[in-house]
Amino acid sequence: MMTGQTYEAFLQSHPSFESTRALDDLRVREYARLDRLGHVYLDYTGGGLYADSQIRKHMALLTESVYGNPHSSNPTSIASTHLDEGARHYVLRFFNASPDDYVVIFTPNASGALKLVGESYPFTKDSHYLLTFDNHNSVNGIREFARARGAAVTYMPVTLPDMRVEESELDSYFDLANGGDNLFAYPAQSNFSGVQHPLEWIDRARAKGWDVLLDAAAFAPTNRLDLSRWHPDFVDLSFYKIFGYPTGVGCLIARKSALAKLHRPWFAGGTITVASVQGDRFYLAEGEAAFEDGTINYLNLPAVEIGLRHIESIGVETIHERVRCLTGWMIGNLFAMRHDNGNRLVRLYGPPSVDRRGGTVTVNFYDQHDRAIDHREIERQANAANISLRTGCFCNPGGGEIALGITGGELSACFRQPGHEIRFSIDDFRVCVDGKSSGAVRMSLGLASNFADVERFLQFAKGLLNR
Ligand SMILES: Cc1ncc(COP(=O)(O)O)c(C=O)c1O
Repeated sequence: MMTGQTYEAFLQSHPSFESTRALDDLRVREYARLDRLGHVYLDYTGGGLYADSQIRKHMALLTESVYGNPHSSNPTSIASTHLDEGARHYVLRFFNASPDDYVVIFTPNASGALKLVGESYPFTKDSHYLLTFDNHNSVNGIREFARARGAAVTYMPVTLPDMRVEESELDSYFDLANGGDNLFAYPAQSNFSGVQHPLEWIDRARAKGWDVLLDAAAFAPTNRLDLSRWHPDFVDLSFYKIFGYPTGVGCLIARKSALAKLHRPWFAGGTITVASVQGDRFYLAEGEAAFEDGTINYLNLPAVEIGLRHIESIGVETIHERVRCLTGWMIGNLFAMRHDNGNRLVRLYGPPSVDRRGGTVTVNFYDQHDRAIDHREIERQANAANISLRTGCFCNPGGGEIALGITGGELSACFRQPGHEIRFSIDDFRVCVDGKSSGAVRMSLGLASNFADVERFLQFAKGLLNR
């Protein structure tokens, strides 16, 4: 089919794409470097892309004034404080979070926000840490804080092919709440499969005595998170995933009541009202200040507000709809690709429709004899075609283990082998799971994605047929 006809077919199957046309114009104006350099960018779950104007606005702001360290009260310090508090306020506004209920704590990234919760949560032997198999390693890592303080840790499995949690089993997991403080963590959208786990779980878990940590890092870039409708105790995210620039800033959005439970394991510059050497005492500051160690990223915080305003000028719903349409087209076409002998080219890990899923599509490619093509080979070929996709397990080992059928028994045997108690590499892992894929290929779409990107990728995939 000619490209024009293909586009017509796409519009017929996804008519709402028309309503997102403004993003085609924006791509030409603000993201021209993609086409100028011939890039097909398919790693928005790894990192978003910034509009040229975000950079111009930020540079103008920095060059028009003088900004000092905000931990002071001189004029340049006050200028920084003014901008940074503006950004803090804007984050609350963007997520529709009431300042009476929530605070924003700036962190270096989503992982920094997760670590703040993990190290400060009042885990005891009477606590439970419950989490989905499908989680980023920075959520998995909280189990080490929980275990060190004697808390029970339970993983809730997801099942193939959709990689969702069995809803009928959910309550039996929520019934595991112990007498102490209990924390339940899950991603609003999986960075492995694109599944959107229900936000309704927040109320259900809270009603059964859990504090809820919602990992919104992969969800927030293309979905509205309305904190007047949903009331998680903690939300973590990274701003570069939403609008590309700046890197190095994320946040923890915390309910004030939940924040009051947290005990910081140390104090640092900026987190105290008073600390004394000879008196051997310190007094933590109130609210977010107690959680922001040292000097905040004060020159970059204004760029967070610029980025959020940029997203608002487009509309999260418009971005969402565009990504939904393009994802549907990508999945439908990949699924339809068959070798001449009838065998499918791809195996998809995650929902085959756009129902309750985002624009992250993870697959493995298979040759005509139904043997998996190594994901590293796919990446090499994609690189040669100037297509940026991602391979491996994307820091989501639980998702990977379920998708690739790697069992707990296999992994335990593998980790028990001599030498592995000290050192373990991805190559050791490949030897252990001989015959199974050790990773997958992930394409993820975002606000600057267009139809041509998806078509170029599909042409690339077609080139793998009949091998
Ligand atoms: C779902 C999810 N959570 C957490 C993170 C961690 O984000 P960061 O690396 O910015 O700390 C990521 C990053 O890819 C993610 O996709």
